[in-house]
Amino acid sequence: MLNDPSSALSLLETRRSGKPRELVGPGPNAEEMDRILTIAARIPDHGKLSPWRFVTVGEEQRDAFEAVLREALAAENPDATDAHFEKEHEFAHYAGQLVVLVSAPVEDHKIPVWEQQLSCGAAGMNLLLGAHALGYVAGWVTGWRAYSDHVRRALCGPGERIAGFIFIGHCSRELEERDRPALETIARPWQPPAL
Ligand SMILES: Cc1cc2nc3c(=O)[nH]c(=O)nc-3n(C[C@H](O)[C@H](O)[C@H](O)COP(=O)(O)O)c2cc1C
Repeated sequence: MLNDPSSALSLLETRRSGKPRELVGPGPNAEEMDRILTIAARIPDHGKLSPWRFVTVGEEQRDAFEAVLREALAAENPDATDAHFEKEHEFAHYAGQLVVLVSAPVEDHKIPVWEQQLSCGAAGMNLLLGAHALGYVAGWVTGWRAYSDHVRRALCGPGERIAGFIFIGHCSRELEERDRPALETIARPWQPPAL
């Protein structure tokens, strides 16, 4: 149904990200999280390798998460000021649920790592859509923390890397729409090369 706001099409056409720092709680409960993560895992996966993990950082673990971020900042940025450390406190305590999306490719497999990473991206996208379908707003961010060896070791196993931090909650204000690329700039009919 074209104008049914609860229809799948409408959900796909209205999903937007929220800024993690603007989210408010409560985030999804345990049952809703299971549902969101199950939806996130229902994605194309060449070779059925499940080359992704969802690491949930619970409310009661946020102080420990902050400690990891502070240690990483101290180790990787000798010029970090109190303001930088305060930012780590804020990041670690953003409202709602936190899922760390982890890329866990199987190395030396006939399925190229690139394809496994694409599957991880699809998992992130389905996670956002699952959250939206349940009435939540989600935001996927990376930044230096996603590329820090210190943070990676605290959240990932060997050979794994952080694909993003995804916060899920409600938005404290009306979400702004952003410009989307005009279809003609991103889609084109194939032009066969001249022989
Ligand atoms: C892998 C990945 C990493 C991202 N990292 C950041 C980030 O660190 N900071 C940020 O503001 N947006 C980041 N974004 C973009 C936001 O998640 C989001 O796409 C953007 O705010 C636009 O919102 P939209 O989903 O409504 O188009 C990232 C997106 C992806 C796919």
